Amino acid sequence: MPTLPIPTLHAVAPELVTLADHAQAAHAQLDAHAWAYFSGGAADEITLRANRSAWDKLLLHPRVLRCLAGGHTRTELLGRTLAHPILLAPVAFQRLAHPDGELATAYAAAAQGAGLVLSTQASTPLEDVAQAIRNNPGRGPLWFQLYWQHDRGFTRQLVERAEAAGYEALVLTVDAPSSGARDRERRAGFRLPAGISAVNLAGLPPPPPLAPGQSPLWDGLLRHAPTWDDVAALQALTRLPVLLKGVLHPEDARQAAALGVAGVIVSNHGGRTLDTSPSTASVLPRIADAVGSSLPLLVDGGIRRGTDVLKALGLGARAVLIGRPVVYGLANAGAAGVAHVLRLLRDELEIAMALTGCATLADAPGALGAAPAPGGLP
Ligand code: FNR
Ligand code: LAC
Repeated sequence: MPTLPIPTLHAVAPELVTLADHAQAAHAQLDAHAWAYFSGGAADEITLRANRSAWDKLLLHPRVLRCLAGGHTRTELLGRTLAHPILLAPVAFQRLAHPDGELATAYAAAAQGAGLVLSTQASTPLEDVAQAIRNNPGRGPLWFQLYWQHDRGFTRQLVERAEAAGYEALVLTVDAPSSGARDRERRAGFRLPAGISAVNLAGLPPPPPLAPGQSPLWDGLLRHAPTWDDVAALQALTRLPVLLKGVLHPEDARQAAALGVAGVIVSNHGGRTLDTSPSTASVLPRIADAVGSSLPLLVDGGIRRGTDVLKALGLGARAVLIGRPVVYGLANAGAAGVAHVLRLLRDELEIAMALTGCATLADAPGALGAAPAPGGLP
């Protein structure tokens, strides 16, 4: 049986051959605080586990004897042709995983032609990350993830900084007006070490003080959390396309489409916000039905295999994002580790396409035994 020559990267231990291997090795690398922060989910971690098991439960159907010569993994997203449909999800505080942090991740993403979404809570200035890869001709899209801040003027400045630095889209995260019950972090006593912080939020004025008897949630966080009106305000404020990240309900996806957002990321924040919310794989088909081809859908949560990527595209996603595997690769071998994770996933995707008779990603629904999904690729 012919096998693909999968390159081993010099800096990466040869026994790391899957994303799960990277996770295990990172567990041994990272201190208990960082491990709790990166690997944990909310509460009982039911959604965290469900994200993974939902991909596992879907079956792929081998197809034989099709001519697949000249096939490829290219896809179209926001007017650009991407070499493959794998993007790096925004993950905060990457210098906790490796001193090179977000810069290493950005170099790796660019080298692998993968889209990069930088977190508002990055531990590296957003300008430095953009500067590092902006002029790399092989790089994928460069997007900035926006957490709406209680100070509207500061939020506007953050948007202006992202525009000036060369980010090409804004990803407004809408599923975390409050963080989830992070029990694993609390048990581990997680605190950011000295020298690592959300540097892009430096200078953010403190929130207005609460009056006696006011609730920090209802009168604090939720008073300043974004609403649908703010999505429209953001679209008016910026010349960049705006995507919403963290949509799980078809009605919310419809409302986003009606506002003319550039895309929706079906996500439950990697199981870190509302525990017992459904897995992303389980809601994706209903959301694809709801919005049809009116806007591109992306999905994240538990994607660890090339077969998961193919399944996601088969269910109607245009592209996928991976979160934790990126920081695990980073912890294991810096930029080379992240590049390795991306290359492994893409190689696995190509193998899965070859074995399911998919010459292009437009064929992905057939791999699940389905007719082409309405929101999928043309
Ligand atoms: C995240 N995620 C996240 N999302 C976001 O919009 N802004 C952020 O700053 C962060 N930070 C963050 C930190 C850590 C440690 C994790 C694990 C996740 C969520 C992230 O973008 C993505 O939705 C999930 O990580 C996807 O799930 P997987 O691939 O980690 O299973
Ligand atoms: C998290 C935040 C930063 O999930 O989004 O840790």
